[in-house]
Amino acid sequence: MTTWLLTGGAGYIGAHVARDLLASGRQVVVLDDLSAGHRDRVPADAAFVEASVLDTDAVRAALTSYDVTGVIHLAAKKAVGESVEKPLLYFRENVGGMTSLLQAMADAGTRCLVYSSSAAVYGEPPWSPISEDTPCAPLSPYGQTKLIGEWMVRDEAAARPLSWVALRYFNVAGAGSPELGDTSANNLIPMVFDALDRGEAPQVFGSDYPTADGSCVRDYIHVSDLSEAHVAAAALAESGDVAAIFNVGTGTGASVWEVMASVSDVVGRDIGAVAVERRAGDPPELVASVDRISGELGWAASRDLRDMVASAWAARG
Ligand code: UD1
Repeated sequence: MTTWLLTGGAGYIGAHVARDLLASGRQVVVLDDLSAGHRDRVPADAAFVEASVLDTDAVRAALTSYDVTGVIHLAAKKAVGESVEKPLLYFRENVGGMTSLLQAMADAGTRCLVYSSSAAVYGEPPWSPISEDTPCAPLSPYGQTKLIGEWMVRDEAAARPLSWVALRYFNVAGAGSPELGDTSANNLIPMVFDALDRGEAPQVFGSDYPTADGSCVRDYIHVSDLSEAHVAAAALAESGDVAAIFNVGTGTGASVWEVMASVSDVVGRDIGAVAVERRAGDPPELVASVDRISGELGWAASRDLRDMVASAWAARG
């Protein structure tokens, strides 16, 4: 039996990954400073260390005392807009966090890593779907820190034994169970629910994009599918000397209007969404090519947009 340490394991995505790793027969140690995570989301079967990933001594101690095989590194700041306002916070937390983690792993001799990267590394590519070979040109400090993290892992793996997988998430949504919803609420589906709670009309940002219905198209991926991709990535990293980058999406885009229609369907009434001005910085279309992850990892999403909206609705606070 192997043991995996999850940085940020008490957060929205980490809480799902912790459960799926346990179900796969692995032992789990969650390391989280609870700045965004919730202690009550850590499964009873997992060990818990309350510490920041920036605390290299605490990470090293956790890796050695639990005899950890590999790390799933989820701990990071993730708000794109905030990263533009406070770039140094993002460089300190995300790049500094990766520096600290890789140092602790080198000291402890930990050889496997699964890294939470993002589709934000691509910026605004002129074609879609986006393959992993697309040149990266992140538009925000957040996206830059995620790309720098990939470079750091790659360079460290050239210098010492390290088997690694980076997962570039597209738009994560939904909940695996009603108590595991996304509480950060700065993405489309939680924002629609917030508008409905306030009795306001949900807003579609931009209706003149060069897409089929004029609204932006994204590749929404269910958090439970994403979580299962982490378990597959952990198994791949354990299997030998791996260096891999995978998009994690469905390979199918949905427009904002399609998401609104799905919400109307789930709540059982027309939610009355209205078109408003474009939001600055939104690319028209971001859809993953999933050929590499299905071919090399044997993973494919199985849940659709309605599953995401319905599970998110059932999990709203
Ligand atoms: C961005 C980041 C992504 C990050 C994600 C979550 C980029 C290119 N992408 O994705 O890396 O993982 O945030 O932090 O930086 N929308 C509305 N009405 C609303 C809210 C959103 O129409 O009330 C639209 C947006 O314009 C966008 C789509 O819904 O077209 C999805 O928005 P959002 O959930 O914020 O995610 P992204 O901006 O796609």
